[in-house]
Amino acid sequence: MRITVIGCGYLGATHAACMAELGHEVLGVEVDADKLKLLSSGTAPVFEPGLSELLDKHVSSGQLRFTDSYEEAAVFGDVHFLCLGTPQKSFGLAADTSYLDSAVRSLAPLLTGPALVVGKSTVPVGTAPVLAELLTSLAPAGTDVHLAWNPEFLREGLAVQDTLAPDRLVMGIVDPADERLLVVTDFATAELVKVSANAFLATKISFINAIAEVCDATGADVVDLADALGYDARIGRRFLNAGIGFGGGCLPKDIRAFVHRAGELGVEDAMRFLREVDLINQRRREHVVELATAMLGPLSGARVSVLGAAFKPDSDDVRDSPALWVAGQLHMRGADVRVHDPQAMPNARRMFPTLTYLDDPVATCEGTDLVLHLTEWPVYRELDPVALASVVARPAIIDGRNCLDPTVWRAAGWDLRALGRR
Ligand code: UGA
Repeated sequence: MRITVIGCGYLGATHAACMAELGHEVLGVEVDADKLKLLSSGTAPVFEPGLSELLDKHVSSGQLRFTDSYEEAAVFGDVHFLCLGTPQKSFGLAADTSYLDSAVRSLAPLLTGPALVVGKSTVPVGTAPVLAELLTSLAPAGTDVHLAWNPEFLREGLAVQDTLAPDRLVMGIVDPADERLLVVTDFATAELVKVSANAFLATKISFINAIAEVCDATGADVVDLADALGYDARIGRRFLNAGIGFGGGCLPKDIRAFVHRAGELGVEDAMRFLREVDLINQRRREHVVELATAMLGPLSGARVSVLGAAFKPDSDDVRDSPALWVAGQLHMRGADVRVHDPQAMPNARRMFPTLTYLDDPVATCEGTDLVLHLTEWPVYRELDPVALASVVARPAIIDGRNCLDPTVWRAAGWDLRALGRR
């Protein structure tokens, strides 16, 4: 098939490359000149395992191309995927759907023949019918242009795998008569499946983080507790890792947008608990800053090393990253903060130019009074606690991700504190 992918950020670039890998002819539409240049040379605009390889392979073969021209896209494609971002609005909690809206306004007037437009962005429930109406009213082909909603569930770091072999496909269409391998449903259900999934994941993380607070108050161990809970197949162990909480471009803004949309729909009471989920999550980061302050004494002049800046490993994304938030707070309160991350340093530097960034984790810790392990990259688990103890000023560490072995680190002389751990 001849496919266009409109909006080539995280989701779009991955979708475009994977559709080419599945054998389709793909044209990506990207209006940001810098991103377009990178993509056209077969380079991913973000760090995502396997993505650059796929882009390079299919750009080289000519099966995948990129453009900034909607005219070219309208002529090229039978199917147009909308992969625009829906970030949190600058004022308030709502999701900003203006990129989607303007993409539809640019594309629709150019659709002179039958076409299928497929929305993949995460949207407030009620968005798809408005876009469907806009499409048919602006397109010369009128009702021969159809909209379907096919929300995306890819995880950063596993984006290529999740796109090529998704665990489910949800397809929202106007008349859900045909149900086979796909979950075929109406617009509202398709939109809600996506935000409910992210709300559930966020709730699961905040649940275990709330339990971690109780563990801290009682001397219980949240990791043992999560393992025990996880043996119950109805609960499951995944997304029960307590620590500094969730961040990134999806979970935080999606739960806020869900609360906002529920308010508009008159069911704010039903989603009120998500405010609590958000508050629990925010409290985790603050707790780490307080713990660091308690361990260091006055922050002014204290030397701190932060391992990890990305919101999670295998990603260079620092949007709403708990790790970078903690680093920034300690810096603003007077500490001398050095940061290391295997992939996210360019993005972190853009967001927090006043922090010091070093290329090597051991050099980052050299001479510091406190180490904070805040993003669980495998490389940090491989650090030798004995060797590291000999380069720091004081062997003190906060494990914000609860994945360093406390017994091993303490045996090497470290004062190790974790979150909700014995
Ligand atoms: C999330 C969802 O997992 C995807 O299914 C969804 O498609 C995507 O959002 C989206 O809406 O586009 P992603 O943001 O890539 O994917 O990241 P997650 O793997 O969900 O992690 C989110 C955050 O939760 C990270 O900061 C991670 O460190 C944190 N987390 C995760 C925990 O603190 N504890 C856990 O047990 C798991």
